[in-house]
Amino acid sequence: MLDFSKFLKYSKPGPRYTSYPTALEFSSDYEYDEYIKKLESQDSSRPISLYFHLPFCRNACYFCGCNVVFTSKEEKMLRYIEYLKRELAILSKHLDVNREVLQMHFGGGTPTFFTAPQLKVIIDEIKSVFPNFRDDAEISCEIDPRHIDEAQMKVMSEAGFNRVSFGIQDFNEKVQIAIHRVQPYDVTKKAMDLARKYNMHSVNVDLIYGLPYQSLETFKETLKLSLSINPDRFAVFNYAHVPWMKKTMRKIDETTLPRPDEKLEIMQYTIDFLTSHGYRMVGMDHFAKPEDELFKAIDKGELHRNFQGYTTKGGADLIGVGLTSISEGIDSYNQNFKDMKLYEAAIEDGKLPFERGVVLNEDDLIRQFVIMELMSNFKLDIKRFEKLYNVNFKEYFGDAIEALQPFVEEELLVINDNKIECSETGTLLIRNICMPFDAYMKKHVSNKKTFSKTV
Ligand SMILES: C[S@@+](CC[C@H](N)C(=O)[O-])C[C@H]1O[C@@H](n2cnc3c(N)ncnc32)[C@H](O)[C@@H]1O
Ligand code: SF4
Repeated sequence: MLDFSKFLKYSKPGPRYTSYPTALEFSSDYEYDEYIKKLESQDSSRPISLYFHLPFCRNACYFCGCNVVFTSKEEKMLRYIEYLKRELAILSKHLDVNREVLQMHFGGGTPTFFTAPQLKVIIDEIKSVFPNFRDDAEISCEIDPRHIDEAQMKVMSEAGFNRVSFGIQDFNEKVQIAIHRVQPYDVTKKAMDLARKYNMHSVNVDLIYGLPYQSLETFKETLKLSLSINPDRFAVFNYAHVPWMKKTMRKIDETTLPRPDEKLEIMQYTIDFLTSHGYRMVGMDHFAKPEDELFKAIDKGELHRNFQGYTTKGGADLIGVGLTSISEGIDSYNQNFKDMKLYEAAIEDGKLPFERGVVLNEDDLIRQFVIMELMSNFKLDIKRFEKLYNVNFKEYFGDAIEALQPFVEEELLVINDNKIECSETGTLLIRNICMPFDAYMKKHVSNKKTFSKTV
C-alpha cells in the first residue's frame, strides 16, 4: 500500500465540478428576461433531459448536503405537486415540449416520500406535458431504501422507470448512529429485491467515505455487504463536510472523522476491491460493470458530467423543475428558487421560478471543456481540444501547466504535447488537478468556507 501521508498537502477546499463555473458564480445579475430568451431560443432539434426535484424527507441524516425540506405533513406535499403542475404549464409556454425526451431523473430529498398514487399523478402530468419520451429513454429515481414499498416500485416500473439509485452510505451500526441514519442490511436487501422484481435495468448504490467512526476495516465490511446485493453501479462519494452551510452537519463530532490519509487509503482500497470484483472506475466516484453503457460512452469520448453525476446522454438541454433545481443549456446554468415561499410566489405571478444563474463566456466554455474532460476521463486529448477551440493549449494554459508541475514530479500526472493523463493514484486527486484550470479559484482561495476538502 502506498504511503498516503505525502499527499496530505493536497487536502484543501475545492469544487466537485458538477458544473463549471461552479454554483458559487451563479448570480442574480443574470436576469429573468435573459433566461427566458435563452430558453425560447433553444434549438428544438436537441433532445431534452428532465430533472425533477422532490425535496421532502422526514428526518435529517446529519451528513446530508442535499437541498431538503423536512416535513411529515401530507398537505405540504400535495401542495408541492400542484405547484409542480403549474411550473410545467408555464414552462410549456417557453419551450417546445414536443422535443424528444431522452432522460428523466427524480432526485431529492427522497422522491419516494410521495405515495404510489401521488407519484403516478406527478408522472402522468409530466407525460401529458412532454409527450415524446424516446422508447429507450433512461428514467431514474433516487430511493431511500427505508421508504419504498411495492406499490411505488410498481407505479415507477409501469411508467417506464428503468433505473433506481439507493442510498446506503455505510452499513456499520456505529457509523449509522453517528450520522442519524439507521438502516439495517435487510431493509436495503429488500429494496434491492423489489427493484429486481420490477425489472429495473440498472441499480446504483450510494456509499460515502469520510463519515464519523469509519476506518479502513469498517469500510471493508460495508463494501463486502454492498457487493452481496449485486448492484450494477456504485457511487462512492467523498463526504463533503460543509457545516457553515448545512446546520445538521454541526451535529457531527469532527474529532470522529477519519484523517485525510485514512480517507485516501479507503478510496484506494475501494478501487482495488471493486475492480477485482468486476467493476471499473468511471470518473471520480463511480464504478460500473464493464458491459455498462458508461464504458461504451468512454470509448466514444461521450461521457459527460452534470449535476446528477456522470451520464452518457450528452448533447441534450437539461431542464430542471421544482425547488432549487438547476437547468443547463449550451452556454448557461439556471437555478430555481431555494426558498419555498419565493418559489411559490414566482409561480403565482405566472413566472418560472428562476432565481439566479450564469451565462458562460468564451473563456468559461474553453475551461469547462477541459475540466469536464478531466473529471470524466482523467485525461485530455490536447490535439482534439486545440482543433475544437482553435487555441494553443500550452499558451492558453501556461500557468495551469506550471501549477501542475508538482503533480508531474510525483508521477500523479503526465503532460506532453498530445495529452494530459492522470496516473491511477492521480485519479484520487482529480479535483486538485482540475483546480489550476479554474479561472475563479483565485477569487476564493483565501476563503476557507466555500468548498468541501478535496481529500
Ligand atoms: C438525495 S440522496 C439519495 C436518496 C435518498 N434521499 C437517500 O438518502 O437514500 C443523494 C445522495 O447524495 C449523497 N450525499 C448526500 N450528502 C452528501 C455529502 N455531504 N457528501 C457526500 N455525499 C453526500 C448520499 O450518498 C445520498 O445517497
Ligand atoms: S441523505 Fe437522503 S434521506 Fe438523508 S436527509 Fe439527505 S436526502 Fe434525506
